[in-house]
Amino acid sequence: MIIGSISENQNNEKRISITPEIVKKYSSLGFEVCLSENYGQHLGIKDKEFLDLGVKIIKDDNEVISHSNIIVQLGLLPDEKISLIKENQTLIGVLNPYTNKERLEKLAQKKVNLFSLELLPRITRAQSMDILSSQANLAGYKAVIESFANFKKAIPMMMTAAGTVPAAKVLIVGAGVAGLQAIATAKRMGAIVYATDVRMASKEQVESLGGKFLTVEGSENLETEGGYAKETSEDFKKKQETLLSETLKKIDIVICTALIPGKKAPIIIKDDMINNMQAGSFIYDLAAIQGGNTAYTEVDNIVERNGVKIMGESNILNKLPISASSLYAKNVFNFVDNLIEKESKKLNINLDDEIIKNTLIK
Ligand code: NAI
Repeated sequence: MIIGSISENQNNEKRISITPEIVKKYSSLGFEVCLSENYGQHLGIKDKEFLDLGVKIIKDDNEVISHSNIIVQLGLLPDEKISLIKENQTLIGVLNPYTNKERLEKLAQKKVNLFSLELLPRITRAQSMDILSSQANLAGYKAVIESFANFKKAIPMMMTAAGTVPAAKVLIVGAGVAGLQAIATAKRMGAIVYATDVRMASKEQVESLGGKFLTVEGSENLETEGGYAKETSEDFKKKQETLLSETLKKIDIVICTALIPGKKAPIIIKDDMINNMQAGSFIYDLAAIQGGNTAYTEVDNIVERNGVKIMGESNILNKLPISASSLYAKNVFNFVDNLIEKESKKLNINLDDEIIKNTLIK
């Protein structure tokens, strides 16, 4: 079996799917690894490092694709590359079936095996493959670092001979994987942290990290069986708005992470709420690419309203691509390992396996 990967479009994706550390693991599974020239160059990984590990480096991307039984990538490849993938080849990545529906349908009709890793079930056995968690964790951390770097005041409380600098107050909207990491990071740096979520299970997690949970009074627990958030009712939205409007007046930094799978992100921070915030406050919107959690979020732009800055990026993971690639490549390897029949070392699309069944796009 040959596993291959080609360079992503580095204007919007700096992560890679196969790292030198993971090549060794594929080799021990009996795979040959095939990569395009300069695959990891932008991350300081020279072709020689891959060659020394037995990787076949090919100049022409098209040849990498035609040569490989399994192709592993981040996003869905552009159409001119996709058209090269043939029957019985396998493509694994973050294929985003909600937005790439038609393109994926065409590929599936060609009998290409398509696995989209954001569809992994959130079960214990899939944790080592869970790309949403590994990447969200890093995103939550980096959103705090970016916000603190842009904020014009100190974060921890400082008592000096010249007077006391108060600790910054941070609000995390959405306490899932990214939100919880954001709470932990902001706490470590000395901020006072508040958080809110529609899933009541997150209250205990927020508190265990030292955050103060803001409960929308009289609301039901809006959690699906799979552990995700449900869309909120109009009544809930009003109550949440009242609660957050008051809180936001004293908040310095907001990190937004609220998402509903397969839907546009909910707008939680409305324009009048932003207008009531203190000038100099900063909002980092991790939900930007899904539409944003604020009224003013723009992708890859810092918008200023009433002295409040709102930042949203298409891919924050491009700001720590080495760590993100390392975790992503391990997640993908663990997924491939589960997909391979150990004796024959051949692909085994076992639809009785919840992990394989959920991620396969038909
Ligand atoms: P996500 O990225 O889909 O959403 C982020 C957070 O936003 C969630 O906590 C969600 O409840 C919250 N949210 C959505 N709408 C909101 C609103 N209107 N106001 C406030 N908050 C709102 O979530 P993520 O991080 O992917 O986690 C989803 C679930 O999966 C959680 O229950 C988590 O514990 C679980 N999980 C389980 C894992 C496992 O067992 N293998 C691994 C990772 C996550």
